[in-house]
Amino acid sequence: MRTVMVTGGCGFIGSNFIHYLLKNCDVKVVNFDALTYAGNLENLRDVEQDKRYAFIKGDIADAAQVSGALERFEVDSIVNFAAETHVDRSILTPDAFMSANVMGTQRLLECARVYWSLAPGDKNCRDYRPGVRYIQVSTDEVYGSLGMEGKFCEDSPIAPNSPYAASKAGGDLFVRAYCETFGLPAVVTRCSNNFGPYQFPEKLIPLIIYNALHHREIPVYGDGRQVRNWLYVEDHCSALCRVMREGTIGEVYNIGGDTEESNLNVVRTVLRMLDRPESLIRFVADRPGHDRRYAMDYTKLRGHTGWSPLYSFEKGLERTVQWYLANERWLETAADQEFQTYCKMMYT
Ligand code: NAD
Ligand code: DAU
Repeated sequence: MRTVMVTGGCGFIGSNFIHYLLKNCDVKVVNFDALTYAGNLENLRDVEQDKRYAFIKGDIADAAQVSGALERFEVDSIVNFAAETHVDRSILTPDAFMSANVMGTQRLLECARVYWSLAPGDKNCRDYRPGVRYIQVSTDEVYGSLGMEGKFCEDSPIAPNSPYAASKAGGDLFVRAYCETFGLPAVVTRCSNNFGPYQFPEKLIPLIIYNALHHREIPVYGDGRQVRNWLYVEDHCSALCRVMREGTIGEVYNIGGDTEESNLNVVRTVLRMLDRPESLIRFVADRPGHDRRYAMDYTKLRGHTGWSPLYSFEKGLERTVQWYLANERWLETAADQEFQTYCKMMYT
């Protein structure tokens, strides 16, 4: 049975991915996560007893911790979700993004190279254990911002606008360099905005739900007409599985949804679903460097693997809102003291 190390598995997409893997694939899973403010062991409480699952608290920027886990669990694949992920926090504290997303990615790559290489001491060796794979989970934000027309393709220029996006682009470029220089069997995926269960309430959709449930105002940046290309998280997970199995080494694959929606429409729709008034909407100062529009062309992934999203935006949003309503305790625990302090600083 293959062993997949999921880094950042206690976060939003990572925990959904672990659930997806254990349900749909015959693999063992090692969840390697530093448990930052965004990491939550509650997300995986229901699989803790599964014999195919193990959790290790560790930092991808710590080579000794990473190498120890690779050796102990005889890891065949790494799917790297571990990152600082919130654009607004990257404006407040860019250094943390450099450490986790650039240096962390490089250290992880180096540990993988050494552990999987057939001659670890020889930097010219391009031979690795059979079947090993490194998947870098990246983002559409590395391409920057679009106007009203067009979509990002894999060969669109890299033009990040926020410290978060720049740090993710830096990570991607290290993956490319490890493929080219050392022949490391790696693939990069770039996905659009995800939504679904277990998303930390700093992000737009869970923030709307949390604030609306507490009858608090919903902060909408600028004119609220920025457009995001939403994808239900389970569809992202199924795309990543396809890439793990069928992706071509050295390639980049875009992953995206079929829906483009303005922030204001998203806020109005969620308020309607929760039976809350639009008077809760409060327009606030725009995010500096705010990207206007994202849209992903995922023709390449569909052509290589046949993948396309199963959930419409409406169906995914309905499931998401229902999940948060059924898991209010999870939401209240996630929205802890650190989160309340962050919100006060960000929004007042
Ligand atoms: P998240 O913030 O919910 O979770 C990140 C997880 O990484 C947390 O569990 C945290 O503890 C862990 N982590 C952070 N730094 C770490 C480190 N140095 N070592 C080990 N673990 C560390 O993030 P998410 O929204 O689930 O995003 C996961 C990945 O997917 C990220 O790489 C992100 O860039 C990418 N991505 C996210 C989206 C999205 O819409 N959320 C879209 C495209 C790509
Ligand atoms: O596109 C993929 C990216 O999507 C991921 O790489 C990031 O990790 C993820 O955080 C997300 O980035 P965004 O900045 O697009 O997501 P966020 O939920 O922060 O914001 C979505 C949109 O809503 C964006 O245009 C900013 C706006 N917004 C956000 C917040 C938190 C508001 O108007 N008000 C808010 O309070």
